[in-house]
Amino acid sequence: MNEKERLYYLDQMGVQVWVSKNAPELDHDHDANGVNVNKDVEANIPSSSLDDLKLIVSNCTQCELHRTRTQTVFGEGHPAAEWLIIGEAPGADEDRLGKPFVGRAGQLLTSMLRAMGLAREEVFIANVLKCRPPNNRDPQSNEVASCSAYLRKQIELIQPKIILVVGRVAAQSLLMIDEPIGKMRGQKYTYQETGIPVIATYHPAYLLRSPQQKRKAWEDLKFALDVYSR
Ligand code: URA
Repeated sequence: MNEKERLYYLDQMGVQVWVSKNAPELDHDHDANGVNVNKDVEANIPSSSLDDLKLIVSNCTQCELHRTRTQTVFGEGHPAAEWLIIGEAPGADEDRLGKPFVGRAGQLLTSMLRAMGLAREEVFIANVLKCRPPNNRDPQSNEVASCSAYLRKQIELIQPKIILVVGRVAAQSLLMIDEPIGKMRGQKYTYQETGIPVIATYHPAYLLRSPQQKRKAWEDLKFALDVYSR
């Protein structure tokens, strides 16, 4: 991605960047394209591919969320992605379309990725929960526990180089810690015993409500890029 495009995507994220007079002008005419691991469930996942796992997830009735979902949202992206992005749970748009981060927050997530030089197709985007909690309420601990084996298996199959986790609920669930997101930012965690680095940042839905925090989110994304390239 060239400098002009990078500035464009930062602009789309709502991050103002001081640029020298010689910098390329922005082009506005283009489209901007804690909880326990449930070892019992995990032991029963025989899948050797993401497609197998997706099928298993689509039939899941481990928790009550299967009663209210339209469909499961497994996640999507490159099956051998170096970057795994993990959010909280599907919302109404995702439940309807069966894909992660396709609503307004998803558009911002796509812009955040582009600002990092990443296309959606080259990363893998998943959620802690594969089913939508009614009225977008926070996931309950039993729901996270039921679903955690699926996420763990996804990580095992994709083998990402780095995980970017967005939002407090996703970060706390993945890392099984109780820290506020403000304290998790800027720290390098690792996912269980895998050694895969995990970087936390704000959820794009929160950034839509609090755009003044986008600058901090951009700092987190640059930190993640730095950890990735080390
Ligand atoms: N928010 C999330 O955390 N995940 C989605 O897929 C959509 C919105």
